[in-house]
Formats: sequence, C-alpha cells, structure tokens
Amino acid sequence: MPYGKPQASRPRRDPGARFSNQTAIVTGAVGGIGSAIVEGFLAEGARVGLIDFNSQAGQAYEKALRQRGHEVCFVHADVARYEDCQAAYDRLARELGAADILVNNVGISPKTDGRALKVWEMPPQEWEAVVSVNLNSVFYMTRLAAPHMVGQRRGRVVNMSSVAGKAYCDIVAAHYAATKAALIGLTRHWAAELGEHQVTVNALAPGRIDTPLLRTVPREINDAVAQATALRRLGTPQEVADACLFFASDQARFVTGQVLDVAGGWLMT
Ligand SMILES: NC(=O)c1ccc[n+]([C@@H]2O[C@H](COP(=O)([O-])OP(=O)(O)OC[C@H]3O[C@@H](n4cnc5c(N)ncnc54)[C@H](O)[C@@H]3O)[C@@H](O)[C@H]2O)c1
Repeated sequence: MPYGKPQASRPRRDPGARFSNQTAIVTGAVGGIGSAIVEGFLAEGARVGLIDFNSQAGQAYEKALRQRGHEVCFVHADVARYEDCQAAYDRLARELGAADILVNNVGISPKTDGRALKVWEMPPQEWEAVVSVNLNSVFYMTRLAAPHMVGQRRGRVVNMSSVAGKAYCDIVAAHYAATKAALIGLTRHWAAELGEHQVTVNALAPGRIDTPLLRTVPREINDAVAQATALRRLGTPQEVADACLFFASDQARFVTGQVLDVAGGWLMT
C-alpha cells in the first residue's frame, strides 16, 4: 500500500482543484523552495513525488505530509547520477502514477568562506558537481518523464533557473550562472521539441529568496540585495511556488518556452 491507510484527517479532494488526479514530481523537494512547491501542489489536489538526497529530512517530511492525509512518496536519490534518477522516477511512477508535471527544482550554489570562487581558484570537482546537479539532472529527469507526457499528449515541465542565469550577479560563481543560463536554453529548445505533443516547458528565474541556500553567504550581502530589489525585500518560497503552480496549471496551457522572473525587481534585464 504505497501511501498508508486512508486516515480520518485526509483532506477532501476537491474535484475542481487545479491539480486533482495529477501526479507532480519535484526534485530538491525537501529544500526551501521545493517544499513550498510540494505543499502548493498538495493543497490543490495533486499526488506528489518528492526526490532529494537528504533522506532523513525527506522521510520525516513524507511522514508528516501523510499524517495530514496527502498522497506523497519520498525517494532518496542523488540527482547527479542518471541511475539514481531512473530508479527514483520508476518508483514514483509505480506508486503515484507517471508524472503529469515535472518540476526540476534542485540546485546548489557552493561557496567557500561565504564567497564565490574565481575561475583560477575553482577546483574542477566543484565545477563538475554543480554542472551535474544543476544541469545534468534536468536532462536526466526530463528524459525520463517526457515519454509518458508525449504519449498522453499532456504535460508540464518547469525548470528552476535564476536571475543569475540572465544577468551578471557577483554573489554566485560562474558554474551557477552558467548552469542557470543553460536551463533557459534547454527550456526554449524543449518547448519547441515537445510543443507538438502538447507538453509545455517553462522556467522560473527567482531573485533572492529566503531559504537555506541563502545562508551560505554573510547576512550583509542578503541585506544589500534587499535594498537593491525594487520591492526592498527578499522573496519567499511561497512566492516562487505560486508562479510554479501557474506554469503547471491549465491557466498556462498556451504558455511555453518562457522565463518568468520572480525577483521583486532585482537584476531586471
Ligand atoms: N534561494 C534563492 O535565493 C534562489 C534564487 C534563485 C534560484 N534558486 C533555485 O531554486 C532552487 C531551490 O533552491 P532553494 O533555495 O530552495 O535551495 P535549498 O538548498 O533550500 O534546497 C535544495 C534541495 O536540493 C537538495 N539537493 C541538493 N543536491 C542534491 C542532489 N545531488 N540530489 C538530490 N537532492 C539534492 C537538498 O538536499 C535540498 O533539499 C535551486 O535550483 C536554486 O538554484 C534559489
């Protein structure tokens, strides 16, 4: 029994909810933005597959969500490895049904002593780790999810880019900027490839969002970003999740190949 026994507290499924009877898969699902996206989908009727390599937090989170009556399944995977992605996707498809929606949310932005390394300082291993997690995983997961979406002539892919993939941002290192820019190229390319099959592919470009990822730099830096942001504050994970749910929804059925800034007017291009 994949999701445990139905419980008295099970939320009533609203057949009019935007994602009822749909399966969404979210990578990096235990993190700040990932968990907000997971809960957004659950609140609107979806079954949600969670992928993350933080197994302890993932299992606790899965348990808590099931206790609230949600249909969720957590799978531990290192998305930098294709075999892990395949095993995770297959398990989630068995337990929840193949993905109608894929959110390629996972991302890392390593810092050393709170700062981004320059090109001459960067160990090749760090470069390769960021490319594997931020870029390769998006190819792996989309490759796995696309056949079902194409087959059913309906699907949504949302890629988590960043304003740092569109404009120069001195807080992040080149590997992060390069991978987030690459996701914009992938988004356009796959939107064109998958469009005739009624699968849309869009990207989000968050600005500075208050999550654990932010705490890798000194607080003064985040304060300075807030001051440089038109709305004079950092964003919340919920604000990114709201935009993600729009792209995944039927309201966005004629929107594809687009990048939406969720940045409060920071690094506007
Ligand atoms: N927070 C921001 O200001 C910001 C801004 C722009 C874009 N983004 C992007 O949003 C996404 C989510 O960021 P966040 O701030 O929520 O980060 P986070 O650090 O809070 O969460 C990232 C999650 O990914 C998981 N993860 C990391 N490496 C993994 C791997 N190899 N395999 C499986 N899981 C792995 C972590 O365990 C964590 O749960 C990322 O792609 C990030 O680049 C964040």
